[in-house]
Amino acid sequence: MSFKGKVIVITGAGSGIGAAAVRFFAKKEAFVVLADISVEKMVDIADSIPMECMIQETDVSKYEQMQSLVVAVIKKYGRIDVWVNNAGIGPNHMLKTADHSLQDWERVIAVNQSGVFYGMKVVLPSDVKARQRKYRECRFTCRIKSLRQ
Ligand SMILES: NC(=O)c1ccc[n+]([C@@H]2O[C@H](COP(=O)([O-])OP(=O)(O)OC[C@H]3O[C@@H](n4cnc5c(N)ncnc54)[C@H](O)[C@@H]3O)[C@@H](O)[C@H]2O)c1
Repeated sequence: MSFKGKVIVITGAGSGIGAAAVRFFAKKEAFVVLADISVEKMVDIADSIPMECMIQETDVSKYEQMQSLVVAVIKKYGRIDVWVNNAGIGPNHMLKTADHSLQDWERVIAVNQSGVFYGMKVVLPSDVKARQRKYRECRFTCRIKSLRQ
């Protein structure tokens, strides 16, 4: 599959699976947007790839930051082709359930669940609009073709 020229947004792009995804899509000549809570990590990854890429400091658990991310990407590239909801955190595995603090629990839910929901909520409207436009264009073309026949 060709990703050449596609606009790919990856949350949690600063390390691990997200960073591997950045390298993968960069190799495929896509425009990669790195979104992570850590600017330092993103700069390291961006420096390691040959393609131009965009960096946006984003905490996925903050809805308004996710909205700003979409606005910034649309402003720069005009569209979003792929959105990877990758950012996530894990609890301290060494602790027993009762020993986890409520703050840790709430942070995991905020990042791993709300973060993914926010990602879908901010990006799907632009995707849906683009699909509807394509569908309308396609229906219009089909109608013209059938009138001509
Ligand atoms: N590695 C695994 O074995 C494994 C297994 C199952 C699921 N996962 C999931 O895959 C995803 C990536 O895992 P990984 O091992 O690459 O993790 P990782 O810890 O190496 O990388 C996570 C990245 O997310 C960023 N991040 C953390 N909180 C953030 C926030 N609030 N907003 C934006 N960015 C934030 C971190 O700075 C980091 O760069 C996670 O969602 C993880 O839960 C990983």
